[in-house]
Amino acid sequence: MSDTRVRLWQMELAHPVMPAAGPNVQDSAALRAAAEGGAAALVSKTISARAAVIPHPNMADLKSHFLNTELWSELPPEAWVERELPAVREIGLPLIISLGYSAADIAAVAPRVRPFADAVELSTHYVGNDPGPMQDAIRAAKDALNVPVLVKLSPFREIGLAAEAAANAGADGIVAVNSFGPALGIDIENGGRLWMGGKGYGWMSGPALKPIALRAVFDIARSVDLPVIGVGGISRGSDVVEYLMAGASAVQVCTAAITRGPTVYGRIAAELNTWMEKHGYSDIAALRGLALHQAAPLMSLPPQLSPEICTGCGLCVTSCVYNALYLEEKSIHLRADRCARCGLCLSRCPSNALSFAG
Ligand SMILES: Cc1cc2nc3c(=O)[nH]c(=O)nc-3n(C[C@H](O)[C@H](O)[C@H](O)COP(=O)(O)O)c2cc1C
Ligand code: SF4
Ligand code: SF4
Repeated sequence: MSDTRVRLWQMELAHPVMPAAGPNVQDSAALRAAAEGGAAALVSKTISARAAVIPHPNMADLKSHFLNTELWSELPPEAWVERELPAVREIGLPLIISLGYSAADIAAVAPRVRPFADAVELSTHYVGNDPGPMQDAIRAAKDALNVPVLVKLSPFREIGLAAEAAANAGADGIVAVNSFGPALGIDIENGGRLWMGGKGYGWMSGPALKPIALRAVFDIARSVDLPVIGVGGISRGSDVVEYLMAGASAVQVCTAAITRGPTVYGRIAAELNTWMEKHGYSDIAALRGLALHQAAPLMSLPPQLSPEICTGCGLCVTSCVYNALYLEEKSIHLRADRCARCGLCLSRCPSNALSFAG
């Protein structure tokens, strides 16, 4: 067995997979289900000074991505403090409490959640691009609490600079990223009905968000010396590997927990373990930041072919827009003089019969 344990500030986690703030952690019952589903730590839905009133409909699964117009928790802070958080503490897992948004909101809510929090995560989704309000919110949290204060950044800002501004204001860690948008989805089978209520726009999450979030984690890890929790489009163990290699110390999952249920956390953690074993990585530290030290590749040679493992599926041939690849008796061949060294075939081959040659 590979060792998937992670130490995050004072929290000892069995593995790096936890929920992200959303309806999957809307109350203590949902958080208990997340724990039973194998999450290594818990994160609450964002609690603000007053309950959110959300539009309906507010979620749509469009497969390559997911849209939502949820805001923060529809429960008032009193319900969290009096009923939900005491019940969550009984679960016994480390708890990150998500709080939003302004310094005044944080100053009002943070002291009330203090007895229950192992860390807090400040959502900056509605505070704008100017770092000032975010920094004021961080300082308000630091004044009220003696646990790590994390900042959750949204992907539509200059993320490395935002992380530096958060670090300068005293943040102890960064969570990246929140959903992207505003975005639009149209139900063409129903006369062009918009999928989302409210203003008709939604925020995008799920698989399509992953490359944006991964880039954000990569930039943050190169900008500040703080632990980063990656979030966006994670649904498999191999997604977690990518985030760890980009510099994340742990990850969060929201959309996949909505669409596949709370057992997804444990399944992702088990897949991570299997992947690590298969690839000979003994622990998480051996993976963390591996991509940060890579120079961007220079492709000076055509791909190297391994015809003996080519299945003749033709996927690379179809997509080689330079007509450099062809099949003969179900075996792959290359016209080297035509190869433009675009690299596309390397990602198309399901059998690893094409590899990077330098
Ligand atoms: C329905 C829904 C509600 C969400 N609510 C919150 C929230 O209250 N606070 C927050 O910080 N992020 C919220 N998010 C953003 C997620 O925590 C996460 O950052 C984002 O969805 C990307 O991760 P994913 O692709 O795993 O969903 C929400 C996302 C969804 C889909
Ligand atoms: S690198 Fe590009 S041009 Fe060369 S064989 Fe592959 S897909 Fe074709
Ligand atoms: S994609 Fe791979 S397996 Fe399929 S034809 Fe090309 S080299 Fe062969």
